[in-house]
Amino acid sequence: MLSKAMLDILNKQTEKEAYASQLYLSMASWAEAKGLEGISEWFYAQSEEEREHMLKFVRYINERGGHATVPKVDLPPKDFPSVKAVFEASLEHEQMVTAAIGDIVALSLEQKDFTTNNWIQWFVTEQLEEESSVQGILDKLDLLGDGPLYHFDRDVMNMRGAEGEA
Ligand code: FEO
Repeated sequence: MLSKAMLDILNKQTEKEAYASQLYLSMASWAEAKGLEGISEWFYAQSEEEREHMLKFVRYINERGGHATVPKVDLPPKDFPSVKAVFEASLEHEQMVTAAIGDIVALSLEQKDFTTNNWIQWFVTEQLEEESSVQGILDKLDLLGDGPLYHFDRDVMNMRGAEGEA
């Protein structure tokens, strides 16, 4: 059985994962509307992964005798100033999620909830992969500078880190 504090923090994380899914969906739509097919596919796939993350939280809460709340999420931004800005916003979001996962790890240790501590480790690894994947893309964009995005857009799907492991 989960403590009230653990239930609350896991429900909040469910909301963060749901928001991430919507944010990446909005980024996918922005890129698609601009004709950036590869980038939009990258964000559509990312959006799906985040929905899987959200479902993992819902199912874990219920498995541990709680009742997961289906979250209401804020509207994500619709427009982004540039391709680089969109990936920077993605990295910033992942860093925020990593910190939030860290808070769950800390609470699980404080409460000696070793089941949650064990379960949440998957997300610790996932966050490392996600941050590193987006950072890798930003490094490529830095190399490209103001050059044309055609090849980058064509190749970006091959830069997905932990594809299919959600
Ligand atoms: Fe589920 Fe990318 O955080």
